[in-house]
Amino acid sequence: MYHARVVERASKVTSKTTEIEREEEVAYWDGSDAIRRRVAAADEAPAEVVICMEQMSESLYSSLAFGKKSDLTHLEKELFLVTSFMRAKGFLHFDTHFGNLLTSGRHVYFSDFGLAISQDFDLTSEERAFLEKHRDYDRMYVASELACAAIQMSIQPSVSERAFKHYLSAESLALTLPPPQDAVARRYRRLAYIMEGFKQELRECSKSTPYPEALIAREVIKITPK
Ligand SMILES: Nc1ncnc2c1ncn2[C@@H]1O[C@H](COP(=O)(O)OP(=O)(O)OP(=O)(O)O)[C@@H](O)[C@H]1O
Ligand SMILES: [Mg+2]
Repeated sequence: MYHARVVERASKVTSKTTEIEREEEVAYWDGSDAIRRRVAAADEAPAEVVICMEQMSESLYSSLAFGKKSDLTHLEKELFLVTSFMRAKGFLHFDTHFGNLLTSGRHVYFSDFGLAISQDFDLTSEERAFLEKHRDYDRMYVASELACAAIQMSIQPSVSERAFKHYLSAESLALTLPPPQDAVARRYRRLAYIMEGFKQELRECSKSTPYPEALIAREVIKITPK
């Protein structure tokens, strides 16, 4: 980051969102009043933060697209290093999908800290308990994203839907990928499966779907280098 500045918003600034958009957002989050207050507060904020950053060449997602080559072993190590560091500091990024991670070709950089939470923030006891409960979330998310990227790099777009459906199912794995994609996909399959099930419940059933903390902690221990 080169520079950051808090800039006042013009006093007569028009709302960023329409009433319909705000209500759609609230409905998406199961009609949550807390979301209604948050959206309204963001709309009425008297200031904005402008951040100037170095421009990275591309997101990790596009660098690992169909047919691309990449050093997955090196990437896996970096992702583990960064997520372990953040966890040790009591910091959760909470949105580490590969569109939010950037790469220079050699190293990986985390961006979009819009959902981040830290033990150093002024948290309520409920928020502290949330942070503790989700301490493995970033680790699980990058492992699951890496597994999906390993598959995407190795297959044709025309068969991707079928391949992902099979990979994220409980069936025994019938995909054979080149190394090291094969090892990565196998190592993180169970986590990717748990993650996908959780996301699906969130999307299709309820935003209050309980986070499968114990299940994830058990899997994260298995993939943590000794
Ligand atoms: N320094 C950077 N260099 C190159 N591309 C960047 C950089 N920072 C962000 N991007 C790209 O811009 C995209 C959008 O940025 P960002 O993720 O911060 O916003 P967003 O996801 O739209 O915001 P929100 O938090 O509201 O969802 C990122 O997904 C990333 O691909
Ligand atoms: Mg983003």
